[in-house]
Amino acid sequence: ANGRPQISASFRDVAIDGAQSEDGAPEQGGSTVSITVVGASGDLAKKKIFPALFALYYEDCLPEHFTVFGYARSKMSDEELRNMISLTLTCRIDQRENCSDKMEQFLKRCFYQSGQYNSEEGFSELDRKLKEKEAGKVPNRLFYLSIPPNIFVDVVRSASRTASSQDGWTRFIVEKPFGRDSESSGELTRNLKKYLAEEQIFRIDHYLGKELVENLSVLRFSNLVFEPLWSRNYIRNVQLIFSEDFGTEGRGGYFDNYGIIRDIMQNHLLQILALFAMETPVSLDAEDIRNEKVKVLRSMRQLRLEDVVVGQYKGHSKGGKTYPAYVDDPTVPSGSITPTFAAAALFIDNARWDGVPFLMKAGKALHTRRAEIRVQFRRVPGNLYGRRRRSVGGGGTTATRELEKATNELVLRVQPDEAIYLKINSKVPGLGMRLDSSDLNLLYSERYPAEIPDAYERLLLDAIEGERRLFIRSDELDAAWAIFTPVLADLEANKVAPELYPYGSRGPVGAHYLAANHNVRWG
Ligand code: NDP
Ligand code: BG6
Repeated sequence: ANGRPQISASFRDVAIDGAQSEDGAPEQGGSTVSITVVGASGDLAKKKIFPALFALYYEDCLPEHFTVFGYARSKMSDEELRNMISLTLTCRIDQRENCSDKMEQFLKRCFYQSGQYNSEEGFSELDRKLKEKEAGKVPNRLFYLSIPPNIFVDVVRSASRTASSQDGWTRFIVEKPFGRDSESSGELTRNLKKYLAEEQIFRIDHYLGKELVENLSVLRFSNLVFEPLWSRNYIRNVQLIFSEDFGTEGRGGYFDNYGIIRDIMQNHLLQILALFAMETPVSLDAEDIRNEKVKVLRSMRQLRLEDVVVGQYKGHSKGGKTYPAYVDDPTVPSGSITPTFAAAALFIDNARWDGVPFLMKAGKALHTRRAEIRVQFRRVPGNLYGRRRRSVGGGGTTATRELEKATNELVLRVQPDEAIYLKINSKVPGLGMRLDSSDLNLLYSERYPAEIPDAYERLLLDAIEGERRLFIRSDELDAAWAIFTPVLADLEANKVAPELYPYGSRGPVGAHYLAANHNVRWG
């Protein structure tokens, strides 16, 4: 009824059949799922996790028997937690519908336990309360670590020792950042694995839960027309673009320790790149897909300093409004050189992608909010219509000249206004021979009027169902850090000053020179 099984029937059918999960007991039947949001008082929990859980409940995607617990140090009663959550719950599925009854029912299943993050007593008390709710059923437990990374291991140690399920499965969703570089990431992995098996760790990258990113593999592998073109033979360059039209407002303290390369490129954009460039997996099983992603990541060249441009936004006034500089944020140390913008050229040294630049661009406080994958194809060899001497029709010279530049481009607009469009050259109707570049456009809002689920909904449901396909395996993480760690070290060791760009602008001009060095123009 909720339509979810159709999204990825192959693996959901397995879970629904009641098979044993890799890490525990039966998924269905006499079982219950307890979801504990650790860091429940925080920004992410309020903004994303509780609303996603409610949306899943509303769509009847949660198991019949489930309980939601919030855990944090803040003192709160169950009622206060419910009041807090209710402020951010929305009726995403259908704004016209009054879902207050469903909200009431959902909130009744939400409870709170206060405790320290490194305290076994706190998690023992949680365990006691969970048992009360789970009575008589096989208990399965999901912990969502929505907390700063320096306390991940404390929580995993305490919770795994005192609040693991005895008969069912216990899983931990871990939020990014997974370390700052290869070494710290390796240490985090080793520490988590002291208490958990790899199968219990669900490292989340919410970009993998976005609808268009899910559709990337469908587009590639279920359409005959794309896969044959998907290589250096036809693709000139690939661009992965992330831009936000707001700064680090409110998160400067976290951000300054990481910077845009770690915040966006090493995870969100690189994950998209891996899905884009991987070879065809043996099947849709999580391990087959993740094996292919690891292979392509390991074929990538380490990023070099000369292939990176960094920037930072500066204050700016426009139309009587003043926009702050990054360093104006009181939680950012004065004189910080942390990049809020970066552009990079990456290469995959394998037969399919040899020599094709994969350009990434990510920035905060730019002129627009968008996330896109842009694929620029090569020029048509011997293009009849690109020959200047054969300028024809009314628009003659201009039209042919424009066409010389207009190669095909496939764009996957991840957000906002999700769309997939292909730029093609076609004839302008009329007696003359004028050519025009236009779009074959799949605009989601027109084709699929239903609301698109938030990435966190898909990922939470996958974690509950034990589907690991969209979560990052530890060897993927190692391969991802290996690409970025040397350049991050060089940037820091050389104290490379970021190029300043005005808040709300298109970012540093250096990004254009970088692209030009690789014969690329940003789309
Ligand atoms: P918050 O800073 O809001 O922290 C969450 C909770 O953790 C707080 O409510 C607080 O609860 C507790 N906490 C905060 N700082 C400390 C500290 N120094 N020591 C111990 N406990 C602390 O984080 P977010 O909710 O913004 O993010 C949670 C996780 O998700 C982080 O790993 C973040 O990187 C990641 N993330 C966040 C995104 C976002 O949009 N917010 C986006 C993507 C990832 P209490 O005091 O009640 O114990
Ligand atoms: C997070 C980053 O992972 O993704 C944030 O830490 C960024 O800095 C956010 O704003 C963007 O996510 P979305 O889904 O809003 O594009």
